[in-house]
Amino acid sequence: MSAFIIAIDGPAASGKGTLARRLAAHFGLAHIDTGSLYRAVGRDVLKAALDPADPVAAEQAAASLDPASLDDPRLRAEDVGRAASQVAAHPGVRAALLAFQRRFATTPPGAVLDGRDIGTVICPEAQAKLFVTASPEVRAIRRATELSARGEKVDYAAVLEDIRVRDERDSGRSTAPLRQADDAVLVDTSNLTADAVFDLAVGLIGGRLSGSGATPTRRSAPPSPQGGGRE
Ligand code: DC
Repeated sequence: MSAFIIAIDGPAASGKGTLARRLAAHFGLAHIDTGSLYRAVGRDVLKAALDPADPVAAEQAAASLDPASLDDPRLRAEDVGRAASQVAAHPGVRAALLAFQRRFATTPPGAVLDGRDIGTVICPEAQAKLFVTASPEVRAIRRATELSARGEKVDYAAVLEDIRVRDERDSGRSTAPLRQADDAVLVDTSNLTADAVFDLAVGLIGGRLSGSGATPTRRSAPPSPQGGGRE
């Protein structure tokens, strides 16, 4: 049985996570928010009172990552997000997380992966690739709304600045930078509702799925991240 892979890349707060979850449910595929892997590494480095900019500390945290801890609400905290962006710049961290992501994607019937380098590095063979983006200002409003709904105090200017810094770091790093794959379809969500983005994506992907011969049905559990070496 072949795997149908949908790669969704884009910057922070572009709407790619919501879209990826809805597409996975719609097409009966598994889903992983790959940012949560980098966030978990960042969280563990901070918890150990080490520096996310230190490649040795970050690589050790990536190598001993506990997959059961990916649901931790602390992963959504702003300091963890910043640390994630820092640890994600270390090539050793990316290498340590590569095998798990590939195994997740290629387990039949397939999966939706959202992140920064899915279409370019993790799954260049994905049958469908979307690059989901929005203006920094729109993304900052979304992020600020999300934070304030969680009861956090929000400074819009600081949120916007943080988004700009993160964009620069994610796009400017030398290993697996955030960039649109040549064969990805660009979806600008700045002026679209989540429903409109979903309908657009289903239209784009549906044809490829029917021509692929894959027959997705929801699988019961994702593969274990453990036991995979570096690729
Ligand atoms: O999507 P997010 O905000 O949860 O991601 C957190 C950080 O992880 C982000 O700054 C960049 C990094 N990341 C990455 O480098 N590659 C991915 N595939 C996913 C996330």
